[in-house]
Amino acid sequence: MENTTRTRLEIIPLTKYIGAEIRGVDLREKPDAATLRAIYQAWLDHLVVVFRGQELSQEDLVRATSYFGELGDIDRPEKHHPKGFARMLPGIMLISNIRENGEPIGALPDGEMMFHHDMIHREVPSRATMLYSVEIPSSGGDTLFASGYAAYDTLDPQIRSRLEGKRAFHHYNYGSTQKGDGRGTEAFSEASHPVFRTHDETGRKAVYVNRLMTVRVEGMEEHESDRLLQAVFDHAEKPEFVYTHVWRTGDVLLWDNRCSSHARTDFPSTERRLLMRTTLKGSLRPQ
Ligand SMILES: [Fe+2]
Repeated sequence: MENTTRTRLEIIPLTKYIGAEIRGVDLREKPDAATLRAIYQAWLDHLVVVFRGQELSQEDLVRATSYFGELGDIDRPEKHHPKGFARMLPGIMLISNIRENGEPIGALPDGEMMFHHDMIHREVPSRATMLYSVEIPSSGGDTLFASGYAAYDTLDPQIRSRLEGKRAFHHYNYGSTQKGDGRGTEAFSEASHPVFRTHDETGRKAVYVNRLMTVRVEGMEEHESDRLLQAVFDHAEKPEFVYTHVWRTGDVLLWDNRCSSHARTDFPSTERRLLMRTTLKGSLRPQ
């Protein structure tokens, strides 16, 4: 007899290069092995997977993250560790603009954020990020996801050959995440990685530099490095390579930090925004 209570898994691509919605999954329950394999493959193929209408406790979110790999630690210095974290399970980061006694309860509270790869400023960056929306403003605060594969595959061959085999230096200070800042300040963390990263599971190459954190191509004159990086950023952020996620309450997104970057649009500071974030530990130094 067929089990009629089991919903059928549906995978619906959202754009040509990036993003797929997955239907028929309640993340509170661990999917069977075949379903999990299908979801994992969809994630590798589409870089970002979207599960709508989820209702998760903190414990559920941690468990759902663990379906895909080992949970990563929260990676923030103590002085930038807002009070709300004390109420969260280890491994969950609050992303929120909500303030109590004038202090934000979460990280990355306000406004726009430029394109970036989570944790690229670490020697072994997070493999993936999961984000679950609890409260969402009536407009704005969208997340834009860009395919690093599409950007690499279509990059001007002259630019690509100048950068092939090169490494870039990344710098990030948690106190300066907003547009127009982040350079010349004391770094919380710095690291160098290949400009084009080979994905350890798909074997495909992706652009692995971003506007927010990448400072310099190593072993290159500054003006040349600036010119090439600017050209790569402008190309990688083209709308045809981007999926824009308009959040609803109850969305869970899982994205691959090895081959995609993301950005956030501005939103009204008068409205509440609250999301819970977990990460998957990276297993390899980028190649
Ligand atoms: Fe991010």
